[in-house]
This record gives sequence, C-alpha cells and structure tokens, in this order.
Amino acid sequence: MAYRNLDIGNRGAVRIITVNRPDKLNALNRDTLNELTLAFAQAAQDDAVRTVVLAGAGDKAFVAGADIAEMNGYTPVQAQGFSRAGQRLMSSIERLGKPVVARIQGFALGGGMELAMACHLRVASEKARFGQPEINLGLIPGFGGTQRLLRLAGRGAALELCLTGAMVGAQRAYELGVVNRVVAPEALDETVDALADQLAASAPLAAAGILDAILQGGEMALDQGLEFETQAFALAFSTEDMREGTTAFLEKRKAEFKGR
Ligand code: COA
Repeated sequence: MAYRNLDIGNRGAVRIITVNRPDKLNALNRDTLNELTLAFAQAAQDDAVRTVVLAGAGDKAFVAGADIAEMNGYTPVQAQGFSRAGQRLMSSIERLGKPVVARIQGFALGGGMELAMACHLRVASEKARFGQPEINLGLIPGFGGTQRLLRLAGRGAALELCLTGAMVGAQRAYELGVVNRVVAPEALDETVDALADQLAASAPLAAAGILDAILQGGEMALDQGLEFETQAFALAFSTEDMREGTTAFLEKRKAEFKGR
C-alpha cells in the first residue's frame, strides 16, 4: 500500500518510519494512526528489519499531538474509537519484539509525547519540547499518556505534566527519565543512526526476550516477573545465536547473530 502520511525507508536492517505532515506539525489524524499501525505491523513481520527508527518530518516537530481539528467534531463514541485506535498503535509499538528508537528534534506534545513514550528508547535534540497539554483543550491524554508517563517518570511528574499542561525542554525530560539521550541538534542523526545500527547488529531473539522481560515482566508482581525472566533466560539457550555469542567470546572473535 502507498502511504499518504508516512515516509518509509530502510538503512541496512533499520526501518525508518517518518510521520510526514509537516504543515500540521505531523499531528496524528485517524488516517495517520491507521498508516502507522500498518507500517509497524509490516516492520514486525519483516525478518530483514531488526530495529525501527520513528521520526517526524521537518525541523519543528516530532509529532505535535492528536489532530485537534479532527477531534473538534468527534462524538463520544468516535472519541472512544480514536482513543482505542491510538492505544492499540502504542501497544503494538511497545510489543513489536524489536527495538524502536524515537528521533525527537522538536515538539513532542500530547499524542506525540505518547507516541515517543511507546518507543523503547528516545533520543532528543536539545531543542525538543515535551508536554501533555490536553488539559488546555479540556481533554485528558487518550493514547496511554497517563499510564506510560506514570511508569516512566513516576506519579509526581505525571501529575505535574498532565495537570499543568506545561511544556518542558529536553534536559528536563532527561532528568525525569522520559528521554534517554539529549544531543546537540546537529548530532541528532549521527546519534540515532549509531544507536539504531548497534541495536540492529545485536542478537534479535535476545533483544525480544529483554523487551518481553522488562515490558511484560515489569507489569507483574516481583516473584512472577522473576519467574518470567527465568523462562526467557532458559529459552535463549535454545537459540543458535546464544551458542554463536558464547563461542565467539571464547574464540576471541566478533559474533554474527542470525536471529535463529
Ligand atoms: N492538531 C492539528 N493541527 C495542529 C496541531 C494539532 N495537534 N498542532 C499544530 N497544528 C497545526 C496548526 O493548526 C497550524 O496549522 P495551519 O497552518 O493550517 O493553521 C500548523 O500546524 C502549524 O502550527 P502553529 O500553531 O501555527 O505553529 P506554532 O509554531 O505557532 O506553535 C505549537 C507550535 C506546537 C505550540 C502549537 O501548534 C500547538 O500548541 N499545537 C497543539 C499542541 C497540542 O495541544 N497537542 C495536544 C493535542 S491532544
């Protein structure tokens, strides 16, 4: 299918998905949500894709939120469908089974911050701005923001950002644990590329096990989460990659992982 609101590219084993509505600061309308859902499903199914980078087109915004013009006319039933579609997309990114890196050069607001938080790692330019400004529209976050911000940054920060609707800079987002790395704008691409390349070269089944153990195991009680980790650890011993990784270490050579 041809995408109208996304650009899709590949760099080696890295799939690059770019939200491409720069004249609307890459706001998420229903079509864009649907296209993102399809693009991530394709990335999940394609064995040649080992890592995904999610970006927003233009200099100004990663994604400036859900599309306010579209939401303005929604009935509650349409809003429920929109929220569910957004939440499904965010969960599908979180559960992709491959690392997803958000490249954030500008505004990541509302649904844009929620989209960034559904990714596994976030690299931000010093110019990036984060916020959950829904309250200024008489709304609340509806794509998982109340839950993911709570889990990433804790209750105090989640309540402050959602209740005030205030924007924070990249450095503050880093201090809150929302962002993994903050770099100068001119270093953003090289930092994202290097991180994505590193992730793409790592053992894919081990990466999937880590994502499962931290994201699913982290929602369980400690004893259950630890047991979940043990099962994922044991499963790794069924893979060729584990034999290759440990043998390569013992033979003092670089491992070549095949995802088997
Ligand atoms: N939904 C729909 N359109 C949006 C949008 C959104 N979330 N965010 C920006 N746009 C549109 C603007 O309406 C404008 O369109 P126009 O040129 O047709 O009028 C265009 O993108 C550029 O935005 P503009 O507001 O002119 O840029 P700015 O630099 O003055 O301000 C922001 C940037 C991010 C501060 C401002 O656009 C903003 O507050 N956006 C909404 C953020 C928000 O509340 N997000 C949460 C939604 S739930």
